[in-house]
Amino acid sequence: MRIPQETIDRIRQSADIIDIVSDYVSLKKRGQNWIACCPFHNEKTPSFNVSPSRQIYKCFGCGKAGDPVRFIMDIENVSYPEALRHLAKKYGIEVEEEQLTPDELIRQNERESLFIVLNFAKEYYRTQLLETEDGRSIGLSYFRERGFLDQTLQAFELGFSPDQWDGLLQEATRRGYRTELLEKAGLILTKEGGSGKPYDRFRGRVIFPIHNVSGRVIAFGARILKADKNQPKYLNSPETEVYHKSQVLYGIFQAKNAIRQEDVCYLTEGYTDVISLHQAGIKNVVASSGTSLTIEQIRMISRFTQNITILYDGDAAGIKAALRGLDMVLEEGMNVSVATFPDGEDPDSYVRKMGAEVFRQHLSHHTNDFITFKTDILLKDAGDNPFKRAEVISEMVQSISKMPDPIKRQVFFQKTARRLQVDEQTLISESNRLVLKNLERPQERRSAPASPRPGQGPEPPPNELTEILNDFSSADPYEAPVPEKPVTRLKSRTPLAFQEEECIRILINYGGYELEPDISVCHYMLSELGAMEFTTPVLREMLNEIRQGFLTSEIRTADYFLNHPNQDFQLLAIDMVTVRYQLSENWEKHEIYVPTEADKLADAAFTNILRLKKLVAEQRMSEIKLQIGQAQEPEECDRLMLEYMHYKKVDIEIGGLLGTVIS
Ligand code: GTP
Ligand code: MN
Repeated sequence: MRIPQETIDRIRQSADIIDIVSDYVSLKKRGQNWIACCPFHNEKTPSFNVSPSRQIYKCFGCGKAGDPVRFIMDIENVSYPEALRHLAKKYGIEVEEEQLTPDELIRQNERESLFIVLNFAKEYYRTQLLETEDGRSIGLSYFRERGFLDQTLQAFELGFSPDQWDGLLQEATRRGYRTELLEKAGLILTKEGGSGKPYDRFRGRVIFPIHNVSGRVIAFGARILKADKNQPKYLNSPETEVYHKSQVLYGIFQAKNAIRQEDVCYLTEGYTDVISLHQAGIKNVVASSGTSLTIEQIRMISRFTQNITILYDGDAAGIKAALRGLDMVLEEGMNVSVATFPDGEDPDSYVRKMGAEVFRQHLSHHTNDFITFKTDILLKDAGDNPFKRAEVISEMVQSISKMPDPIKRQVFFQKTARRLQVDEQTLISESNRLVLKNLERPQERRSAPASPRPGQGPEPPPNELTEILNDFSSADPYEAPVPEKPVTRLKSRTPLAFQEEECIRILINYGGYELEPDISVCHYMLSELGAMEFTTPVLREMLNEIRQGFLTSEIRTADYFLNHPNQDFQLLAIDMVTVRYQLSENWEKHEIYVPTEADKLADAAFTNILRLKKLVAEQRMSEIKLQIGQAQEPEECDRLMLEYMHYKKVDIEIGGLLGTVIS
C-alpha cells in the first residue's frame, strides 16, 4: 500500500521535532536549541542537538542527523513508510492508502506467502515436539537434557521434525499449500534422477527457527539427535527470497532490546550458545551461525549498539582465522572486544556449568579489546624472531589504521606500542607510510553505496528515501532496511571541492542577507559565478537548484535543502548549518566575543568567489599546458598560448586581490 503525497506532506507539516524526540530522551534547552545525551550512542555528556527552527537533529558525537521522519526511522528501526505511519498515528492523521499495481501485488504476495508457509512449518514442528509421542520422547527429552526450560522452548519457538519421509509435505498439502511454494521456502526437496517424489528437507531432527529482526520466521536450522558420521550435525534452510544467510543473525529478535539496554552485543558461534545464555538471563546475545561475520550483520548490530564482544571458545586455529575478518568491524567504527573461555568450554557449556553470576564475572576478567587480544596472539606466535615481530607491528598498525576515529586510533597506538615494547612514533610513522601507499592507489570500495550518487545520469537520480518509498510495496513491511552510514561530510576534498562546499555553505546560510540595498549575497555570488559548473556532483546540483530558484526570485537557503527529498542534500545542509550552532554555543560558554560570520559576510563571499576563480584558472592553465605539448599546428599553439596568458593574468590579479583581503 502506498501513502499518497498529500498525506506525506500533511504528516511532515504536523510533525514537531522537539515533541517527537522528547518521546525518547529528555531534552534540555540550551540557547535556541535543545540538547540531550544521544539516544543512538552511549555518552555521558550531551552532544545530541535538536533545532526547533530547522526541525532537525544532529549528534556531534556519532554524526546521526536528520529530520523528524529520519529520527523515527533510526530510533524505531523502521522503513520510511512505517515511520510516516508512526507519525500519522501520533498526530491523528488518517492514512488512506493507494492500491498497488498488479505487479507489486504479485511480488508482495509472494514474499507474504513465503512468510505464511514458513510460519505454518514452525507451528507444525512445534506441534510435533509438544504433542506427539516421538516428539516428546525424542525431541523434548533432548532439549531437557540440554537444560532448556519451557519458557525457553517458547521464546525461541523450538520444534521437532519426525523421522518421516514427507510428514510436513503431507500435512501442508492437506492444508492447501502448493508444493511449489514449499520448495521455494526451502522446506522440501526433489532428488534429481530419483523417484521424482518430493520429500521433507528436515527429518528426525530438532528444529531451531531463525527469525528476522521483527520476529518473523525466515528459515530453520535443524540438529541431528544421534551421532551419525554420515550426516552433518546441522542442516540449514537454503537461501530463499526471504532468507539471505549473510544478512541474518540468529537470536537478534529475542536479543535486540537487551542489546540496546546493555549497550553491548555478545556474538557467539551457535544456536545453543544463544539459547543457554538467554535462559541464564544474559539476553544480549546473537550467533552468526557458522559463517564468519559479514558487513550486513555488523550493520544490523550497529543499529542497536556500537559495542561487540565476541565470545570465543578456546580453539586457537579458529581464533586466528576469525581475526582477519574482524578488521572490517573496526572499519565500521565499532568497538570490538574478545572474551575467551577455558579450553574445551563454549559459552553454552560454561554458563550451564557455572551459572550466570560466575559467567558474568568471568567475562569481566577475560575480556580484552580486540587490538590487545590480537597483539597478544600474534606476539606469542612470533616469539623472539625479529622478522616476525616486525610483521606483527605492521599487522597491528594496519588494524588500528582502519579505525575511523582519530582519537581512538591514538589511544590504541599508545596502548599497542607499550604492548609491543616499541616507540609510539614507530607505529605512527608506519601508519603514515601505509596511508601514503593507499593514496597512490585509487580507492576501492568494498561495498557499493546503497543509492546511486547524484549526477550520474541525465535524469534526476532517485535518492534513498524515494527508493525506499518506491520499493516499499514489494519490501517486507515487517523488516526494517539496514541503513547505510550517512555520508555527511564530503570525503577526499581537493582545494577546489573545498571552495565549492564553502560557496554552498555561504549561500545556504546567508543567501538572503543584503550586502548592499537590493543586492543579496545570493544575487552577488550567482552573478559572480556566471555559468560556472562545480566539479563535485552533489554541490553542482545544489548550486543549480539555487540558480533555478533565483530565476523566479526565490532565494533557496538552508530550509529549502533541509526539507529536500534528496537525502544527500539534507545531510549536507544539516552539516553546513549545525557546525555554527556548536561553535557559537562554545563561544557563549567561554564568554568570548567573536565577530559573527555575518559581520564578515562581504569578505567571506568575496574571498570565496576569488578563490574559486583562482582555482579554476589554475586548473585551466594546467590543461592548456598539456594541450600545448600535444598541439600539431603552430596556429593552435599560438591560440593556446594566448589563452594561457589570459588565465595567468587573471590568476595574478586574483592573487593580488586575495593578498589584500587575507589578514
Ligand atoms: P554440542 O556442543 O556438541 O552439543 O553441539 P552444538 O549443537 O552446540 O553445536 P556445536 O557446538 O558443535 O556447533 C556450534 C555451531 O556451529 C552450531 O550452532 C552451528 O551453527 C554450527 N555447526 C556445527 N556443526 C554444523 C554442521 O554440521 N553444519 C552446519 N551448517 N553448521 C554447523
Ligand atoms: Mn556447542
